[in-house]
Amino acid sequence: MSVIAVVGAQWGDEGKGRVVDYLAADADLVIRYQGGNNAGHTVINRHGHFKLHLIPSGICYPRTRNLLGNGVVINPPALVDELDALADAGIGSENLFISDRAHLVMPYHPLLDQLEERERGAAKLGTTSRGIGPAYVDKVARRGIRIIDLMDASVFEARLSSALDRVGRMVSGYFRAGGPDDPLADAIAEATDRDAIRDAYLAAGERLRRHVVDGRQLVERSMARGDRILLEGQLGTMRDLDWGVYPYVTSSSPIAGGASVGAGLPAVAIDRVLGIAKAYSTAVGAGPLPTELTDAVGERLRERGAEYGASTGRARRCGWYDAVTVRYSAQLAGYSAIALTKLDVLDGFAEIPICVGYRDPDSGRELDTIPASDELFARLEPVYEQRSGWQTDTTACRSWDALPPAARAYVERLEELAGVPISHVSVGPEREQMIVR
Ligand code: GDP
Ligand code: IMO
Ligand code: MG
Repeated sequence: MSVIAVVGAQWGDEGKGRVVDYLAADADLVIRYQGGNNAGHTVINRHGHFKLHLIPSGICYPRTRNLLGNGVVINPPALVDELDALADAGIGSENLFISDRAHLVMPYHPLLDQLEERERGAAKLGTTSRGIGPAYVDKVARRGIRIIDLMDASVFEARLSSALDRVGRMVSGYFRAGGPDDPLADAIAEATDRDAIRDAYLAAGERLRRHVVDGRQLVERSMARGDRILLEGQLGTMRDLDWGVYPYVTSSSPIAGGASVGAGLPAVAIDRVLGIAKAYSTAVGAGPLPTELTDAVGERLRERGAEYGASTGRARRCGWYDAVTVRYSAQLAGYSAIALTKLDVLDGFAEIPICVGYRDPDSGRELDTIPASDELFARLEPVYEQRSGWQTDTTACRSWDALPPAARAYVERLEELAGVPISHVSVGPEREQMIVR
């Protein structure tokens, strides 16, 4: 048996989906352990081009089981849509399993997400508006509705009723929303329509019923058989609820520590943790990104890397590789190795800076870790080390030796700065564009 956790080392969109799709060729079980349909995990293989939001990235291998773990929050109609889209592309879902303990994203969660963002005004977090934060709030507040509840119509209806009573009081009382001039008035009416929600959710629940299992037992049996298991994280360390740039974070734990709880296996069962890092930095949403480039160079990274959100289509903020962030993430998650993605995006650059530290312009102090204060983090300036580029196309390289020497030197320097070996280097989005060292 082997259990490998695949964890995002930066701000998300590092290429977790493509790496899981690559590794799942040798996996018996892939488990998504946190997050919801805020994810956009891109998988490109001989079956097509997929943007997976909830479904684990091992779904294209019919013999690989895929589990939505208890730590995930599930929007049932969105999951049904995702299954339908996969079916249209010829991908079956007999190998998809859903933990009965996973919590539901209800229609009022995206609404509350929007109302909270509206209330934050200029200080908004830039969430995906998928209701992920509010769904986890309900889970933590011990009033969430779970997949198991959806399997029993009378239980579901009773819980939906009491939830809607509360949500109605919050919307009109606390948010003072829903008046005739409120642009969200229609959205509020739709997200609190008891009969429509009951019908849509129970119908989706019926569609999902055959996939619902006791996730812990499935994992237990898989471990007992000696299966090879992959744990797939959503987002990256800098958006971790505890260790990311609070409050610009998601509401769960993408780091390896979250994998044990959210997948339902003992922490000591995780043999290896593979960090996924992009050869530069990107972020969607608000909050500090020290190496962000708002000039033509940033635009060039965005265009070359096709950096547009897979879930929301938003242009991703781009900047140079931040070695402080990746080392911090490696220390928190305990990486055995790193898979470095999108090296090819740097092919055309003559000079490639690497951020090796930060400087506080107010005090002149230098830092080599992530501060707790988002205010301090936002004003830090990157300290760069300059590397020369290779200016050669790497997309056809399939071995370490085939890479230009300057590209190898860049990867070796990142390895040194992270304190972790780089075991995989990807040079294009397709399954085969992967170099294994
Ligand atoms: P995830 O959320 O971590 O799974 O990453 P996303 O799928 O949101 O974003 C990664 C993007 O980069 C996707 O469009 C991938 O197809 C693409 N991609 C992944 N690896 C590579 C690579 O090595 N080179 C290039 N050019 N694109 C890549
Ligand atoms: P993958 O899995 C990039 C960002 C949002 C926002 C913050 C909180 O593809 O890496 P949320 O909706 O989770 O409450 O938003 O996290 N965010 C992502 N950024 N990729 C994602 O997923 C993201 N999921 C959420 O932009 O800053
Ligand atoms: Mg993504």
